[in-house]
Amino acid sequence: MTMYGDIERVLWTAEEIVARISELGGEISNDFQRFPSPVVLVGVATGAFIFLADIVRNITLPIAVDFIRAESYGSGTKSNGAPIISCDLKLDISGKHVILVEDIVDTGATLSCLISHLKSKGACSVSVCTLLDKPARRRVHFDLIGEGKFYRGFECGDEFVVGYGLDLAEIYRNLPYIGVLKPEKHN
Ligand code: IMP
Repeated sequence: MTMYGDIERVLWTAEEIVARISELGGEISNDFQRFPSPVVLVGVATGAFIFLADIVRNITLPIAVDFIRAESYGSGTKSNGAPIISCDLKLDISGKHVILVEDIVDTGATLSCLISHLKSKGACSVSVCTLLDKPARRRVHFDLIGEGKFYRGFECGDEFVVGYGLDLAEIYRNLPYIGVLKPEKHN
């Protein structure tokens, strides 16, 4: 039994993802080369783990990497409300330029919480690099910090997607592409 049969439609193939990440890495390398101290890339666990691993290898500058965890999702496809930070950074980011690396921005609640947190820890700028963005579902406003920029791989419609780090109840993260599940698999 494999997981591939659970997918109804592929939205972005592995090849399309690789190509887009190479462009994003180039943009980030170009934008941050003027800063003398290494940028800190903060992956939002767990969903960003594959994207983070791929984007860092497309950045040509010296960087530091850390992880943070914010929980708001239960085991289904709808958010449980306000997120909390359940696992904090190891690195001191005070005075540093930080790029938050996300799998997907949906309502914006997680990002809003994380950006405020990074600001309170003294980051001098906070940018966001998300593989997917669902602007139609935005409910919570967030402001980037300092000269922070918003980088996104692809715009996603209002549908639940899995693969390339994105899960449903912790499953499907290891799909090499991003797709939509058959209705009977998530209802
Ligand atoms: P937000 O706080 O509503 O922006 O939600 C962000 C988090 O919700 C993401 O980091 C994902 O973990 C999860 N999420 C939102 N949409 C999807 C989806 O379509 N598939 C899988 N996870 C999702």
